[in-house]
Amino acid sequence: MATTSRALAPKPPGTVLLAAEGVRKFFSNDTAPVLERIDLELRENEFVALLGPSGSGKSTLLRILAGLLQPSEGRVLAHGAPLHGPNRQVAIVFQQFALFPWLTVFQNVELGLLATDVPEAERRERALRAIDLIGLDGFEEAFPKELSGGMKQRVGFARALVVQPEILFMDEPFSALDVLTAETLRGELRDMWSDSAMPTKSVLMVTHNIDEAVSMADRILVFGANPGRVRVELKGLRAAERRDKSPARSRLVDAIYQVITNPEEDAEQLVEQYIARTPARQRRKAEPMRPRRYQALPDVSIDDLTGFVQYLWGIGNSGTLSDLARDLQMRGEVLIRIAEATDLLGFADIQERSVYLTPLGQRFAPLELDAQKTLFRHAVLDHLSLMREIVHRLESSATHVLLAEEVLAELETSFTRAEARRQFETLIDWGRYAELFSYDDVEGELRLDEEHFNA
Ligand SMILES: Nc1ncnc2c1ncn2[C@@H]1O[C@H](COP(=O)(O)OP(=O)(O)OP(=O)(O)O)[C@@H](O)[C@H]1O
Ligand SMILES: [Mg+2]
Repeated sequence: MATTSRALAPKPPGTVLLAAEGVRKFFSNDTAPVLERIDLELRENEFVALLGPSGSGKSTLLRILAGLLQPSEGRVLAHGAPLHGPNRQVAIVFQQFALFPWLTVFQNVELGLLATDVPEAERRERALRAIDLIGLDGFEEAFPKELSGGMKQRVGFARALVVQPEILFMDEPFSALDVLTAETLRGELRDMWSDSAMPTKSVLMVTHNIDEAVSMADRILVFGANPGRVRVELKGLRAAERRDKSPARSRLVDAIYQVITNPEEDAEQLVEQYIARTPARQRRKAEPMRPRRYQALPDVSIDDLTGFVQYLWGIGNSGTLSDLARDLQMRGEVLIRIAEATDLLGFADIQERSVYLTPLGQRFAPLELDAQKTLFRHAVLDHLSLMREIVHRLESSATHVLLAEEVLAELETSFTRAEARRQFETLIDWGRYAELFSYDDVEGELRLDEEHFNA
C-alpha cells in the first residue's frame, strides 16, 4: 500500500463520533440477552478494538452501531443524535470478502459508491485512488477468482475506504488469511492509520486475537460472553511499546490473557494485578503476601517445554500446530498446552494456528544447560506472579524455608483442591529447574536456592 511519509505524532482523541447508551439485545423474548447494557463511545482519532470470545456478541454490536440492526433497549447516537436506519458514517470490512465474482476489482471497489450521488468521473477517480492506496495497483481489471485471499481482502478494504467513511468498522478482517498475509496487511493498515493516509477519523475493529488488538489499538474493550458485555476497558500501548516484545506489551498481553481465560473472575481486579505489577526485583522486597489470585500454570513438564523450544529451533523456528502435532506424534490438545506454556513464558508466540519462536526462544534453544536455566529463571520471574510470590515468601522467611502445605493452602484460595495439587507439582518442577528453590519431598519443604538469592 502506498503510504504518505508524514508520520504524525499520535493524535489526541477528539469529539465523540458514535456512542452506544445502555444497548441491550434479545433475539427472542424468552432467551437471555445477547448483549447486556453496552455503553461505549468512539472518538475522533481513536483506533478501538473489541476483543472477546466467540459468541460474545461482538458482531451483533457492530451491526447495531452500523444501524443494520435495532437494539432491543438503549440507543445509538451518531454525533449526539439518535440513529435511525443505516449509519452513513461507517463502512465495514468483513472477515469473508463478499466480493462479486462477476465484477472486476475496479467494479467491486466502485460499487461502494454506486448508492451515493457522487458523479461518475469522481467515482472513478476515488475508486482508483482507493485501489492505489491499498496496494492493488495493476489489478484493476482482475476478477476475484484470480486473486489470493490477501488480495481479495485488500479489495474489501478498498471498497470500504472508497466511501471515505468517517469510521471504519472491521469484523475479524484478518482471520480468514494465512498468518503471513495477515501480518503484512495488519502492518500496512497500522502504518496507513498512523500516517493519516486513511480517509477515516476512527476505526473500530472486532477481533479475538490478543496480539492483533495489542499491536493496533489505542483502546481495547474486552468482551465477555453470556451475556455479551464489556468486562474491562484497557488503554492501548504507545507506538514504541507495540512492535517488539517490550515489557509493557508483555504485561498487557498477559493481563488480557488472564481476563479471557478466567471468564468468571473480576476482570478489573485481574488487570490491576497484571498491569500494575512492578518489576520482579522491586516486587520481591514489597510487603508480605496477601491472599490473591494467580494465573494457572499449564500442566506441562520442563522436559516437554524445553524439548519443544529446541525442536522448533531445529526446524527453523516455526511450525503450524497441525504439522507439529503430526511430527511429534502428540494429541492436538497436548501440543497446544505445551505451545501455550512457551508462549506464556515469552519463548514463543502463537498466532492463528502456528507457533513462532521469539528472539528469546531462539536464544534459549542452543544454550548450555546452565545458561538455559538462567534464562528460564528470568522468564518465570518476569511472567509468573505465582513464582514471584513464592520466592518473595522464601526470601522473607528467616529460615528461607516454606512448607509445602502452606503453599498448597495458598493455592487453594485460587484453585480447587485437585487443581491446587497440580499447580503445586508444576510449580515445583519449574522452580527447581529454574534453580529458584529446592524441594524436599520427605519433609515437604521448599528451600530458597541461595546461590541466586541472598535475601
Ligand atoms: N440473527 C440472530 N438470531 C438469533 N441469534 C443470533 C443472531 N445473530 C447472532 N445471534 C446469537 O448471538 C450471539 C452473539 O453472536 P455474535 O455473532 O454477535 O458473536 P461474536 O462475538 O461476533 O462471535 P464470533 O467471534 O464467533 O464472530 C450468538 O450466540 C449468536 O448465536
Ligand atoms: Mg463475529
